[in-house]
Amino acid sequence: MSAVLEHSPATDPKYGGSKEGILHHYDIGNDYWGLMLGPAFAYSAALYNGPDDTLEAAQERKFRWHMDSAHVERAESVLEVGCGWGTLLRMISEQPRVNNVVGLTLSDAQTDYLNLLGLKNTEVRTENWAVHEPRQKYDSIVSIGAFEHFAKDGDTREQNQQVYRDFFERCHRWLNPNGGLSLQSIAFGNMRREDASEFMTTEIYPETDLPYLNEIIEAVDGLFEVVAVRNDRFHYARSYDEWLKNLRARRDEAVGMVGEEEVQRFEHFFKLGSVGFRMGKIGLLRFSLRPIRNNWSVDGSFENDSAFRLA
Ligand SMILES: C[S@@+](CC[C@H](N)C(=O)[O-])C[C@H]1O[C@@H](n2cnc3c(N)ncnc32)[C@H](O)[C@@H]1O
Repeated sequence: MSAVLEHSPATDPKYGGSKEGILHHYDIGNDYWGLMLGPAFAYSAALYNGPDDTLEAAQERKFRWHMDSAHVERAESVLEVGCGWGTLLRMISEQPRVNNVVGLTLSDAQTDYLNLLGLKNTEVRTENWAVHEPRQKYDSIVSIGAFEHFAKDGDTREQNQQVYRDFFERCHRWLNPNGGLSLQSIAFGNMRREDASEFMTTEIYPETDLPYLNEIIEAVDGLFEVVAVRNDRFHYARSYDEWLKNLRARRDEAVGMVGEEEVQRFEHFFKLGSVGFRMGKIGLLRFSLRPIRNNWSVDGSFENDSAFRLA
């Protein structure tokens, strides 16, 4: 058991990003989120394939990219850390081999929404990954858009790094040796952490802090091999633009749901975020990660390893 286990939200409420920070942002109404995000109900950067691509098609492509990256096609047991409103959980639960899907979120409203969906072989928990105790090992772990919330604004780089390392240590322990981890996160790009917009860190994402690419690389060192990493920041700018368009198309309805002030806050947020991605101040990282094993041998197990053959 790692020393970090002593230090988790269960024993230290100041560990990493807080549940209150999540509730502030996410629990303002499932209908309001649905109006902005559209039928894909995905709150993370889409993966576009050309100028005519729709948001829905690009969101589905993004989820398929992560399923391929974590080798869900050969998985029976899958964990999603930060499952939102369950679009990926549904896609995973429809895979023929999968018989156990676990989704974690800190949002009570998301869990309520997901429990009504009743997805096959799927359990949704309102639970921080840092206190998660899996009943069995997972073949695949996917986390999209949650890593941004793991560290807390105002904590030191060392504290943030400890949380990131803790996350990857746990994922490594929870995964079968041939498993895969797929991760997506916004990250600081060509800007200093201390120059982060106060509007973002107080009104939109209180109690959270973004990583830099090098911090993620440092945190996976010795645990995961980086199979692929891509920066799709323009894809996130376009996703923000589409959400803004959805919000504007049904603005009166949105104001009726959450009030004028909240709608204005989101309009500003989407515009600011889009500009930040276009300028490269923030980036959108997608990682395909493979657990590093310590039991490689030269007697043939290497060739027999399906993860190696499929890579
Ligand atoms: C931006 S949303 C992304 C949702 C979904 N992955 C998607 O792409 O639509 C972030 C999600 O991460 C969850 N989350 C953030 N921090 C978490 C933590 N420490 N443990 C579990 N879930 C967390 C939030 O509750 C939310 O469901």
